[in-house]
Amino acid sequence: MKKILFVCLGNICRSPAAEGVMQALLKKEGLDGQVWCDSAGTIGYHSGEPADYRMRKAAERRGYELNSRSRQINPAEDFEKFDMILAMDDSNHRDIRGLDRLQNYRDKIYMMTDFCRTKKATFVPDPYYGGDQGFEEVLDILEDACGGLLEKIREEL
Ligand code: 4NP
Repeated sequence: MKKILFVCLGNICRSPAAEGVMQALLKKEGLDGQVWCDSAGTIGYHSGEPADYRMRKAAERRGYELNSRSRQINPAEDFEKFDMILAMDDSNHRDIRGLDRLQNYRDKIYMMTDFCRTKKATFVPDPYYGGDQGFEEVLDILEDACGGLLEKIREEL
């Protein structure tokens, strides 16, 4: 089983959305039995909470159900357990690399937008303090990146 971890700051907006979009895509392609998705935040401030209501609503309108609960990334387990760790923005990427103290897992850490195929985005913008359009933009980027990620995974399975 290939294991993928999506990581943002609070694990209530971008990374749970990435998890939901990817799970739906894997299911559609019949690969949900071969790839496991999870998400986490670099901070534990929202631990135990469901995804942000605005993110859930925006996702639901596109047919995605976000039902994960927020948790903080756990360096003692997650680096070893997951095959790919995908950061939503540069700050997340820096923080994740910082947690990899001995630099044993560098090759597992990616930017989510590395897998975009049509969007020009270089990061997934934090929608938390903005308006509804921010959540749509997050989903637009994630749908594009998840498509590219699926292709990479398919090559490796
Ligand atoms: P996320 O969004 O990192 O996409 O889950 C945020 C969630 C919470 C906060 C910031 C961004 N916050 O400051 O609590």
